[in-house]
Amino acid sequence: MKKAITLTVNGDRRELYVATHHSLLDVIRNELGLMGTHRGCDTGNCGACTIQVDGLAMNACLLLAVDYDGSDILTIEGVAQEGALHPVQRALVEKGGIQCGFCTPGMVMNALALLADDPHPTEADIRARLSGNLCRCTGYAKIVEAVGSVQ
Ligand code: FES
Ligand code: FES
Repeated sequence: MKKAITLTVNGDRRELYVATHHSLLDVIRNELGLMGTHRGCDTGNCGACTIQVDGLAMNACLLLAVDYDGSDILTIEGVAQEGALHPVQRALVEKGGIQCGFCTPGMVMNALALLADDPHPTEADIRARLSGNLCRCTGYAKIVEAVGSVQ
């Protein structure tokens, strides 16, 4: 069964006809071709699929697309502006917070939501907010340092 929905994705209005059992992650990757939102666990445990929905960081793998008709979606592809990395992205690069990069889009989306809520988070705040974003490579210290440097 399919249903028509409208999403605003990275500022563009998109009219879609989606299967009712498909997640926002399915739609973002498979219908819209935005492959920066990663599929890790597909069960809400790794944070690789984190996007912002109406300004809130959420795991796209857990959200049925049909429930988000009319929503404003931000994915990693919408973060850099006019070819310039966002300061969080730049800090992750400069401080060594990226190795394989698989977790990075989800980390960035969650970090941006944190900084929107609190422009001056403590290290504990950053660690708490990013606790649902798993990284197999970095050991987290450089990611936390990078996010903390953007204040
Ligand atoms: S793919 Fe969504 S939380 Fe892991
Ligand atoms: S940089 Fe490889 S999983 Fe985080």
